[in-house]
Parts: sequence; C-alpha cells; structure tokens
Amino acid sequence: MGKIRTAVIVSSDSGYAGEREDLSGPEIRRIAEEHGYEVVSVKILPDEQEMLEQEMKKIADENLADLILTTGGTGFSPRDCMPEATSAVIEKAVPGIPEAMRAYSMQFTKRSMLSRSTAGIRKSTLIINLPGSPKAVRECLEYIITELDHGIDILTGRTSDCGRK
Ligand code: MTE
Repeated sequence: MGKIRTAVIVSSDSGYAGEREDLSGPEIRRIAEEHGYEVVSVKILPDEQEMLEQEMKKIADENLADLILTTGGTGFSPRDCMPEATSAVIEKAVPGIPEAMRAYSMQFTKRSMLSRSTAGIRKSTLIINLPGSPKAVRECLEYIITELDHGIDILTGRTSDCGRK
C-alpha cells in the first residue's frame, strides 16, 4: 500500500508576496512525513478565494493527492477566506475533524474557538483547514493525524473494514 499523498496549501498574502517567511508549510511537511505521509507539493497562495478554489479543485479532480492540508485564512480578518473556498469545492462535509481540533485546542488557547476551519471530501481527496501559525498547526495536526489514515484508506478504497477502536 502506497504512502498517503499529501498536498499543502498555504493561504497568506504576506507569504505569497515574499514579505514573510512561511513557517507553517514546513511544519506541516515535518509532521506529515514523521507519520509516514508523502508530501507531494507545498504551494503558497494569497488569501484569494478563487485561486484557493482552483488549486484545491485541480488537486482533487486530477487525483494529485489523497489529502490536502491547508494552513491560514481561517480567522476573522477581512481577507480570510479559506473556509469559504473549501466549502465551495467540497461535495461532502466532514465536521468532526474541525470540531475535534477546536475542542482539543481549548486547553492551549480559548481563541481556538475563533478558527472557522472546515473539512470535507471532493472526489477521493480529503481537505482539511488548519489555522495559520506553526504552533496551531503543530497542536491541531499532531492531534488529528493519527486517525486520518483510516478515513483516507476507506475514501480511496484501500480498505472497507472499519474494525474497532
Ligand atoms: N488553535 C490552536 N491549537 N492553537 C492556537 O494557537 N490560534 C487561534 C485559532 N486556533 C490557535 C488555534 C487563533 S488566535 C486564531 S485567530 C484562529 O485560530 C484563526 O487563525 P488563522 O486566521 O491563522 O487561520
């Protein structure tokens, strides 16, 4: 069974403009690889809904990755639009993942309630929004990643057996 192919999308105006070094993309790569995932691409885009949608659609429709992990653009800033872009492209919502991230993250900061992150499925690709900071990426991704392979194995037909846990 091959590794889970993971595409990373960073939503950041300043990162896209080269005004700020993106540390969250590399943090996602580190954690994903540590758990045996293959990171196939890391793309930095501005907080532009249309561009974010196009990138997610391309990856899912051309089956370039099994998992898309996004970072940034989930807050209240006027330019934040990652959840809107994600909602526009997914065919099925997976609310349990962001619910779990927000609930678990409350122990670190109650501001986790301010992340509007969403998750869902387009074709056979799972898309998950993570918040923007490397710290938030670490806290959220390390918590959820242990369960993602099971969902993705079912989604991509690698297994049909839910087993018990
Ligand atoms: N979740 C965790 N685990 N740790 C954090 O530090 N920061 C919060 C929240 N979620 C945070 C977190 C804050 S301060 C904000 S504003 C929101 O994520 C949205 O972040 P974003 O706009 O960078 O996506």
